[in-house]
Amino acid sequence: MMKISTTSSARLAKTPLLIIPVCAGDKPVLPTGVKTPAAFTAKFDGKARSTRVTFALGGPANQVLLIGLGDRNGVDLEGLRRCAAIASRQAEALGVDKATFSAEGLEDFDCGANAAGVAISEGAILGAYTFRQLKSKPVAAKCKAMVVCSDDGGLKKGLAQGRITAGGCAYARDLQNLPGNKLTPSEFAKRARKIAKDSTRLTCKVLDESAMAKLGMGLLLSVSQGSTQPAKMVHLTYKPKGRSKGRIALVGKGLTFDAGGLSIKPSSGMDEMRFDMSGGAAVLGAFHSLAHMDLPYEVHGILGCSENTIDGAATKPGDIFTAMNGLTVEVNNTDAEGRLVLADCLTYAARKVRPDTILDLATLTGAVIVGVGHELTGIFPSSETLRDELVASGLRVGEQCWPLPLLDVHKDGMKGKSGDLSNIGPPSLGAGSSQGAAFLSSFVPDSIDWCHLDIAGSAWNTAQRDWVGGATGSGVGVRLILDYLQTRA
Ligand code: BES
Ligand code: ZN
Ligand code: ZN
Repeated sequence: MMKISTTSSARLAKTPLLIIPVCAGDKPVLPTGVKTPAAFTAKFDGKARSTRVTFALGGPANQVLLIGLGDRNGVDLEGLRRCAAIASRQAEALGVDKATFSAEGLEDFDCGANAAGVAISEGAILGAYTFRQLKSKPVAAKCKAMVVCSDDGGLKKGLAQGRITAGGCAYARDLQNLPGNKLTPSEFAKRARKIAKDSTRLTCKVLDESAMAKLGMGLLLSVSQGSTQPAKMVHLTYKPKGRSKGRIALVGKGLTFDAGGLSIKPSSGMDEMRFDMSGGAAVLGAFHSLAHMDLPYEVHGILGCSENTIDGAATKPGDIFTAMNGLTVEVNNTDAEGRLVLADCLTYAARKVRPDTILDLATLTGAVIVGVGHELTGIFPSSETLRDELVASGLRVGEQCWPLPLLDVHKDGMKGKSGDLSNIGPPSLGAGSSQGAAFLSSFVPDSIDWCHLDIAGSAWNTAQRDWVGGATGSGVGVRLILDYLQTRA
C-alpha cells in the first residue's frame, strides 16, 4: 500500500516528482526554487483531470506534474479523490520511487479541510491499488510513498484518517480479488481471527458447522451441504474505550463462490461469482479500519461464509429447511442462496447481539444491476432516518445509495406452499431485489432499525473513476459503513 506522510509546505525537500493541483483559470504557483520552462505553466487550463508534466530546469524537484481540478467552486470530494488518484497513478507511470503532492490551499474548498485530507489519502492509496499477490513473480509498485505538503491541521488530520479508511477498503479489495480456491470459508474465518488478534479493540468468535447446527441455523447450513468446504460464521466485536452509546450489527454475505447449486448458473461469467463474498469483505474491511478508530459504539460484524457448489448431498429444489428463528423455508431455487445465509445471520444478530441497528451488505440479486446499474447500491432502509443517513454517507464517500421499495406485496410474494416461506417469489411479481429484501425482512424484528444493502452492481465492474472502477473488486461498503458510523458518533 502506498505510504502517505505529511510535511510543512514551507520549504520543499528534494523530490523526484512534485505534483501541483491547479484550479481552472489559476496560474500554477510553483514553490520557491522550482524552475520550469516558461511554456509549462503558461495556459494550463486546469480542466478537471487534465495533466501536464515536465522536467524542471532547476531546484528541488526533478519533474513537475500539474493536475487540473476544474472550476474552483465545483471542487468536491470526488474531484479531490480523483486528482490524488491521478497523482499516484502518474507517479507510478513515470517510474519515480516517491512523489511530493502539494495540498496547499486545498483546505479552502466547500467540503472542508478535514474531509479534503481524507479524500486525498484515499484517492492516492486506492488509485495506486493493484492486485498483484497471485503472480508467481509479483512486480512490486515502483512508487511506494507520497509526501503531502500542507500547513493545515485539519487537512493533516484528515490525511491520517484517510490512511485508515483506505487501508480497510484495500483490504476488502484483496479479499474480493482472491479466487474461490484461495479464499474458502475457512480461510475467510482465519483472516477475521487474525485481524482481531492484531487489535486490542477487537474480539472474534468463529462458529463451525456443529456450533451452527446447535443454534438451529438450518438455512445457512443448507447452502454448503453440497460443498466439500465447511461453512463458517464469523462474529467480530469492536468495543469502545469509554461508555457505549449503542450497538450496531454489520452482517455480510460471504459466499466465497456461488455456482448456483443444482439451479446451476450458466458457465459464461460464472467465474465472477468469486466476488459473491463482497458483502463479507466490506464488513471485514470495515473492522480492519475500526481496529485503529475511536467510536462510542459497540460494533458487531457477522459474516456468513459459505460455498454454493454441488455434489450428491446438495439441496434439491423444493427441499424444506428450518431457520434459526423457527420459520420453515422451501428452497425452490438453490441459486437464491444469499438470502438463506443472511436469514440465519440476521436472526443470530438480532438474538445474540440485540443491536439498535443492523446493516446487511450482500451481492444478493442480479436484478439490482438491471434496476440501478453498477454505479449505485440499492438500499432497503426500514426508517427514513436510516435512509437519509446512508444516502448522505454514500454521497460523501462516492458510493451512492439509492432507496428501493420493500412493500407488503413483496412480502406476500415470498410465502411458501408447504413451508412458511419460499426463497423465490413468483416471476410475475418482478422487482427481484425487493423480493430478496422482503425475504430477509422475516428475519429482522420490527424493533430493530435495519437496512439491507444490495451491492451486486457496485461490488465490481463499476465505471472507471481513477480511484475505483473496472472488473476487479471495488471495496464498496467499507468507507460507506465507516462514514455512517463516524457521522452517527
Ligand atoms: N450472487 C447472486 C446474485 C448476483 C448475480 C450478484 C449477478 C452479482 C451478479 C445470487 O446468489 C443469485 O444468484 N441470485 C439470483 C436470485 C434468483 C434465483 C431469485 C439472481 O439474481 O438471479
Ligand atoms: Zn446465487
Ligand atoms: Zn450469491
